[in-house]
Amino acid sequence: MKVPFLDLKAHHAPMREQLDAAIAEVMDAGAFAGGPFVAKFEKEFAAYCGAAHAIGVGNGTDALWFALLASGLGPKDEVITIPSTFMATAEAISFCGAKPVFVDIEESTYTMDPALLEKAITPRTKAILPVHLFGQCADMDPILEIAARHGLPVIEDACQAHGATYKGKKAGSIGRAGCFSFYPGKNLGALGEAGATLTNDAELAGKIRCLRDHGQARKYYHSHIGWNGRMDGIQAAVLSVKLKQLDVSNQRRRSHALLYDELLGGTEEIIIPAQGRFCQSVYHIYAVRVKDRDRVLEALAEKGISCGIHYPIPVHLQEAYRFLGWREGSFPVAERCAAEFLSLPMFPELTGEQIHAVADELKRCLSSASPRAGCAK
Ligand SMILES: Cc1ncc(COP(=O)(O)O)c(C=O)c1O
Repeated sequence: MKVPFLDLKAHHAPMREQLDAAIAEVMDAGAFAGGPFVAKFEKEFAAYCGAAHAIGVGNGTDALWFALLASGLGPKDEVITIPSTFMATAEAISFCGAKPVFVDIEESTYTMDPALLEKAITPRTKAILPVHLFGQCADMDPILEIAARHGLPVIEDACQAHGATYKGKKAGSIGRAGCFSFYPGKNLGALGEAGATLTNDAELAGKIRCLRDHGQARKYYHSHIGWNGRMDGIQAAVLSVKLKQLDVSNQRRRSHALLYDELLGGTEEIIIPAQGRFCQSVYHIYAVRVKDRDRVLEALAEKGISCGIHYPIPVHLQEAYRFLGWREGSFPVAERCAAEFLSLPMFPELTGEQIHAVADELKRCLSSASPRAGCAK
């Protein structure tokens, strides 16, 4: 049986008419860059997440960058984050002229290990940037407590966690700001690029609105050097349609994860993802850990099962960050996980039959294949 990693066509099919109508409405109104459709989506998304303000921007990287810039980050400053993330988390810090400083992840949840956080704080630290990896929130209470003791803002990278909760609060609404990507494959995905920053701080929201529009609060009067980071009208209208079914989609992902857990949980060679304390994950990614991961990935692909790796190289070992001087062994948990992570197919329209096929094939591959078949333990 063929199982895709993600099937956006199947995801969009039931709402195709509404999406077409929403796009037509924007074309009729001619409101393509910023404008009323963006303002409408901002209101809806802020209300959904329980935050006072949402600022629609061009993508998740913009959302992070503007949140950091508006928090006053600049050269020589440091921001603490994790190495087990997509490159954009660190890039946003670097594009403020600041330095990403990493702390390792927890072996169970793959999010920032609060026990390691305080040691990484220096007089140059200006913010803490936990990442809600794979759709599960970082353990926010101890992170917020340490941050408050040092007078530091916490900015959440919630790019993979639309609708996830920590102690009942929605991801992105817990820290000073929360940053989202609406890249098409995300739990809430546009039909192109888009992103948003959430905050309860009206002053910060105002600064981000100004920065995303060339630093102008009034047309052609530029108080700051900003950037073109506006959200586009068509993406906003599409997101308004898709936001309505986000909870149903997330619920389906959770049921799929439960079934994967049941089918794979007892297998010695597989580590299944763990639920963090106080967390309800939205399983943007369902990543297991296996030895000899690359061979397993290849063998599954030969059987028609598409998997992914998020991410094969932790950020501190990326060539682009070699100048920071980290080496292998600097963050052992992140490095071990990067070698073992295998992301299984996960999307709302996945069927039980497909999940059974993935689990059966994965177990078969791990238990019986010879090295030559590409599935050695
Ligand atoms: C954890 C994380 N941070 C940041 C981003 C950047 O978002 P975008 O691709 O929309 O710029 C992503 C997107 O994949 C992400 O997964």
